[in-house]
Amino acid sequence: MSPQPQAAAGAPLSRVDGRLKVTGQARYAADLPHARTPSPGGVPVPEGVVHAVVVDSSIGRGRITGIDTSAAEALTGILKVISHRNAPTLPYGPNPGSLNLPGERLRVFQDDRVRFHGQPVAVVMATTLEAAQHAASLVKVDYDSETPVTDLSDAPAAGEPRTYARGDAEAALRSAPVRLEMTYRLARNHHNAMELHATVAQWDDGRLTLWDKTQWVASPRDELAANFGIPAESIRVISPFVGGAFGNSARAWPHITIAALAAREVGRPVKLVLTRRQLYFGVGYRPSYEYKVRLGSDRGGRLTAMAHDLRAETSRYETFAERGVVAPGQMLYTTPNVAQTFRTVPLDVNTPTPMRGPGYSTAAFAVESAMDELAAELGIDPIELRQRNEPENDQSSNRPFSTRRLRECYTVGAREFGWNRRNPTPRSTRDGDWLVGTGMATAVYDTLRAPAQARVRLDADGSALVESATSDMGPGTYTSLTQVAADSLGLAVRNVTFRLGDTNLPTAPLHGGSLTMASVGSTVQDGCDKLRQQAIALAVGDSRSPLYGVATEDVVVRGGRLHVTNDPARGETYRQLLTRNERTHLEAMGSWTPTQSRSSMYAYGAVFAEVGVDARLGLVRVRRMLGVFDAGRIISPKLADSQALGAMVGGIGSALLEHTVTDHRDGRIVNADLADYLVPVNADVPELKAIYVDGRDDEADPLGVKGLGEVVLVGVAPAIANAVFHATGRRVRDLPISAEALL
Ligand code: MOS
Repeated sequence: MSPQPQAAAGAPLSRVDGRLKVTGQARYAADLPHARTPSPGGVPVPEGVVHAVVVDSSIGRGRITGIDTSAAEALTGILKVISHRNAPTLPYGPNPGSLNLPGERLRVFQDDRVRFHGQPVAVVMATTLEAAQHAASLVKVDYDSETPVTDLSDAPAAGEPRTYARGDAEAALRSAPVRLEMTYRLARNHHNAMELHATVAQWDDGRLTLWDKTQWVASPRDELAANFGIPAESIRVISPFVGGAFGNSARAWPHITIAALAAREVGRPVKLVLTRRQLYFGVGYRPSYEYKVRLGSDRGGRLTAMAHDLRAETSRYETFAERGVVAPGQMLYTTPNVAQTFRTVPLDVNTPTPMRGPGYSTAAFAVESAMDELAAELGIDPIELRQRNEPENDQSSNRPFSTRRLRECYTVGAREFGWNRRNPTPRSTRDGDWLVGTGMATAVYDTLRAPAQARVRLDADGSALVESATSDMGPGTYTSLTQVAADSLGLAVRNVTFRLGDTNLPTAPLHGGSLTMASVGSTVQDGCDKLRQQAIALAVGDSRSPLYGVATEDVVVRGGRLHVTNDPARGETYRQLLTRNERTHLEAMGSWTPTQSRSSMYAYGAVFAEVGVDARLGLVRVRRMLGVFDAGRIISPKLADSQALGAMVGGIGSALLEHTVTDHRDGRIVNADLADYLVPVNADVPELKAIYVDGRDDEADPLGVKGLGEVVLVGVAPAIANAVFHATGRRVRDLPISAEALL
């Protein structure tokens, strides 16, 4: 097959759905129903929707002893109040979906127990949202209250730790010429996407339709099939637009089951939107961690040993233990002796979940801060220290790296950032009242891949429709997959439409873990290649075609026109070919399944930050940032920048602002709103820049991509923390870095 010219991939396209979004025509789950906008592509719209509002527990642990719903039920427009006292028993069968955790998921309204502050204890349905909200405020719940345990720092871990060892880290630490020991602490963070978590549920003769905010339409489908004991085939999930998610719309959280239950109980479509406050306990979060690092090195900074001891919070009913948090300690640097223990600490809280760069970003704060501490201790430049510990292969698996352009990331980053102008002495640079410092950190994230399917249809008018049940939570999947399809079909981008977010479409994996471009992108390319080959075969076998008799591998398609590669004048358009052959359309199914690789596959980066710290007030301002990334091939440079720069904004948040604060006396989250849970705003964000080192990874997938959305976050917080140290000479080992810590 002749290689297709790549015109769309690599071009800095704007989002194909951008106009829909900025004009308010993109329909998110909470926007439904839309009375006057027609439904595109035969996607149904609910009618006669009523509203559900959840009543949350006001204690952190205990039992419900009484629920008085009389005042609520006396209001006009109230349809029903459901609690454990009148809820039907739900089967809650095993969910074969891959997002299940060890333990038992929260079963809504199935018993009188309160497991965490904010647990749903009742739901009110009414014909208007206002009536439902008012009624919910009138539901009176009595409790037998116990004291919850919610503080990671003084609660015991459960069970045996997960461990990893190579060599003898303890012995190597004892004999190391240089030894450091530090404990880092990371606060709980909430994803806080712009779009609230929302579901509309409608039953028709035992069949359930959900309009949901989700990163994976199969996830609520499988969860509700298990919870209600009905076949997955009887559930359709529709989710064409997602207003940010960062990992928190991967699992189907309890409110989705509540919406479906409520709709079944009142026999009407029900809309349930979690409030911003309810998000803090209704869905997951990045768990808080304690991460102890001990490292040993020789005088030249070559690591001889690293020991990592981690503790992370989880709920009592499920064990969330993210794999990625132990990986960097095992494979990022040449380290002959490594020992790790990872303990989970069950608390009276709801269950944590992956959040952007899950595990890796937590580990990077500890490991990359520790490397900076070692560099300072030895008086070695932080980049030079990392270069000296750059491994030849992946020591955790003894496998070669597929591609690892980390040295190039350091070199390019140092040059572009002006690293060599840096005075290595901490607290050596001032700008008025501001102490100025620079820091850097390494980023790494697993290249994940999963099987997918896609359907491709080319109509006789020369336009194509490509469909797969993936999602676009914001990275621009609609656009980047359109680019892949356009090149493979030889069409202009405007002639390709991509549809996603519907369980009726061919299956796709979770839209998370930076795996969508590798997995669904390769699948889309496969389907479009097959369709193009069909068209070429049709042409070269058609005696009326100018391409009659040409070898198929000598034909390419460009701008909707098939022609001989070396003789562009000889050819015809898809439209001419299909019309003459009386074909309304051509269709093909694409699929791709990743093969077991002999190599260790990761995306990498080097992140550089300059900060100013007000010497009298302890305020930290990021002054500029640069990220240099090895993420394989970049399909969509403008969207890549959107990911990379957006992640820097997110990383500024976790470094300096974001902190979910729990009152440990009763388990209540005290800053459950965007006024008190601080996220970066425009004034917090300086000039940001991202560079992508050139090169594809052909072992990873046919597109040569390694995934971008996670790795771009991983190094941001430690780069800022290291810059704060350089500015002030003060090492802060707790995130977020507070003004108090710097005074
Ligand atoms: Mo991302 S935490 O894999 O949605």
